Amino acid sequence: MSLSSICYLNGDYQPLEQAKVSVLDRGFIFGDGVYEVIPAYGGHLFRLQQHLQRLDNSLKAIKLTNPLSNPQWQNMLQMLVEKNQDQNNGDQSIYLQLTRGVAKRDHSFPQNTPATVFAMSNPLPTADMEKMQAGVAAITLDDIRWRYCHIKTIALLPNILLKQEAIEKHASEAILVREGLVTEGSSSNLFIVNRGVIKTPVKSEQLLPGVTRDLIVELAQKNGLACEQTTISETELLAADEVWLSSSTREILPVTRLNEKMVGEGTAGPLWRKMIKIYQTYKQQLRAGAEIEPT
Ligand code: PDD
Repeated sequence: MSLSSICYLNGDYQPLEQAKVSVLDRGFIFGDGVYEVIPAYGGHLFRLQQHLQRLDNSLKAIKLTNPLSNPQWQNMLQMLVEKNQDQNNGDQSIYLQLTRGVAKRDHSFPQNTPATVFAMSNPLPTADMEKMQAGVAAITLDDIRWRYCHIKTIALLPNILLKQEAIEKHASEAILVREGLVTEGSSSNLFIVNRGVIKTPVKSEQLLPGVTRDLIVELAQKNGLACEQTTISETELLAADEVWLSSSTREILPVTRLNEKMVGEGTAGPLWRKMIKIYQTYKQQLRAGAEIEPT
């Protein structure tokens, strides 16, 4: 993150270091808000309509009126990407957050208070294929989060605690298990490969419907790879031939060690190799400005 990058706050574009919100903002006081993380490749926003749809779903779920129409969001975000393109000189990750605004501290909703709307840009490093192929370590942990994990809330304390526990155990992600079933990672969705079939947990209130997850499912289907959205037990996860994590910023990352044991041969598996190629091609088309969305 560069403090001299340009951000958007409540209608104005300004240097990030100058942007200020009140200490009474309900995001600060209560974690009362929602967010999105949207990559931009070569200045083109990735799956924008899908991100805006998920944002609208999150806003509806927390009963916060969406202050902008989709064309207004698109204009604002595109402008932000353009303003940061020189500085980031490549790919960007746009972080966008809305809160229920500034009001006297009171749990009940404030009346006639405008939402705080904030967006910033961070450089998105180009995926390093060699590093990705080496894979990462993960551990399984009890999913201690609340019942509405489909909402992309800024209140991420359980996710942060889970991630930190993984880090302290020399792993880079915690894979979460609720009543014997796998939900997702602390900041990613989960895929496994079992006997040539790609599987990912079915969407529900127990996990975030990842935009990257949906794209992987779509690309698998388009490319004739067997892919199922289904329940996955912890036992099935621990016996999987391949395990992947997906997110906007980490793309598709193979897990090569799980609970200190090798996954498969302990290296990125053959279906990951196929899928990452397909995914990179999709990104290249987007970078080149091809009209590939929405599908
Ligand atoms: N997180 N599940 C959780 C809990 C997440 O936090 C994320 C992403 C995902 C993947 O969603 P998507 O493919 O739309 O990025 C799944 C973002 C990147 C973050 O909090 O920084």
